[in-house]
Amino acid sequence: MGLRDRLEQDRTGQRRDMAQGVAQWRTRLLEEVDLDEMAALDVPQRRARLEKVTDHIISREGPVLSARERAALIRRVVDEALGLGVLEPLLADSGITEIMVNGPDDIYVERGGRVHRIESTFASEEQLYQTIDRIVAQVNRRVDESSPMVDARLPSGERVNVIIPPLSLTGPVLTIRRFPRAFTIDDLVQLGSVDASAGVLLAEFVKARLNVVISGGTGTGKTTMLNALSAFVPAWERVVTIEDSAELRLQQDHVISLESRPPNIEGSGQVTIRDLVRNALRMRPDRIIVGEVRGPETVDMLQAMNTGHEGSMVTVHANSADDAIYRLQTLASMSEVKLPFETIRDQINSAIDVIVHLNRGADGSRRIGEIAVVASRRQEAFKLQAVYRFEPDPLKADRIVRGRIRRSALPENLQRRLFGAGLETPEPFRAGDPPSTFQGAP
Ligand SMILES: Nc1ncnc2c1ncn2[C@@H]1O[C@H](COP(=O)(O)OP(=O)(O)O)[C@@H](O)[C@H]1O
Ligand SMILES: [Mg+2]
Repeated sequence: MGLRDRLEQDRTGQRRDMAQGVAQWRTRLLEEVDLDEMAALDVPQRRARLEKVTDHIISREGPVLSARERAALIRRVVDEALGLGVLEPLLADSGITEIMVNGPDDIYVERGGRVHRIESTFASEEQLYQTIDRIVAQVNRRVDESSPMVDARLPSGERVNVIIPPLSLTGPVLTIRRFPRAFTIDDLVQLGSVDASAGVLLAEFVKARLNVVISGGTGTGKTTMLNALSAFVPAWERVVTIEDSAELRLQQDHVISLESRPPNIEGSGQVTIRDLVRNALRMRPDRIIVGEVRGPETVDMLQAMNTGHEGSMVTVHANSADDAIYRLQTLASMSEVKLPFETIRDQINSAIDVIVHLNRGADGSRRIGEIAVVASRRQEAFKLQAVYRFEPDPLKADRIVRGRIRRSALPENLQRRLFGAGLETPEPFRAGDPPSTFQGAP
């Protein structure tokens, strides 16, 4: 074995020793504390109490440690006793957007768009399984060979996916997506995700009840954008939100949030996004907001957008704005009612006003790549017209994404709609570069 390998093995060994020490102190701690007394305390009080007891136990029975080592050990023992062990400090760190556990020794986190491996480990595979059990038990599921793949959610809202052997060849794998922070459109402008004039334009689109599709890949910020745009829905409107796992946090009072439900262990009781969209239509909504359309519910959404629920919004997984519109067509054709393509195209052309496409750059930065309006009518082939586009420069050695923004005039009919709603089209979109168009195949 080479020196590098041996050093690596030593470090892994040390981390493991530390982790096993933590498990042992945790057991001691749980012997000492009065669990009944603990139940009456809130979480910060519980933590304070456990820290005190752990401190006593370690002073009495533990090794001599520096103040720093001691504080770190106490913290880890208490984290372990309180819930999800090594994951707790990661969950407490708001800079972390994703936590990925690839077996007990391999934990990665995403911070500021970049993924890196961290030092902490689980004591053993068994401890990782215990943590997984604890997480999935909260949603009344279990993970075992017969159901080796489970989606769950932490009480704090984080989405968790678990996949274990035999499906995973890497051992038990746990992926936690942080409950996304709620950004306002101003925050997104500050972050450089969109420029200020386009921020105003998008807000006006929502106020003027345009139907908006937000598209992008996984983790590009679709839900975040949807949440930010939802802030411009007037307070008096009745909004129904529909999601697979509730992430949106609308600030208005008159909001009803619905969440779909996967089948239970026996395979029954499933409630799909489509079921919820159909139900929502009987709830007298002014607008319907769907977290992500993935299937036949797309047809129902298009119908809703065409029949008095203008101002509705959905997100869709796609690689570009024009990919998004074709994807809506494909999804809509998944309905059991087989609609002719021309009909679907007609519905999309009349329902969708705007597509906001999000990109994630090589440096992890998330931004609006394109705002495109649907310029095709009725059964015409799709035609999108970009009114805003971020064009990245070639990547330099520092791998920071830079580029230029191109804006074009908003088509007349939409400028009129904004005007009709008492809004003024922001200056750069009144007239501009000749519109750049995308023409779809007939
Ligand atoms: N414009 C942005 N700038 C920085 N971080 C962002 C931005 N938009 C989203 N994020 C973060 O990226 C992660 C993924 O965002 P999310 O909206 O859930 O993406 P999606 O819905 O496309 O999967 C979240 O942690 C979120 O806080
Ligand atoms: Mg999302």
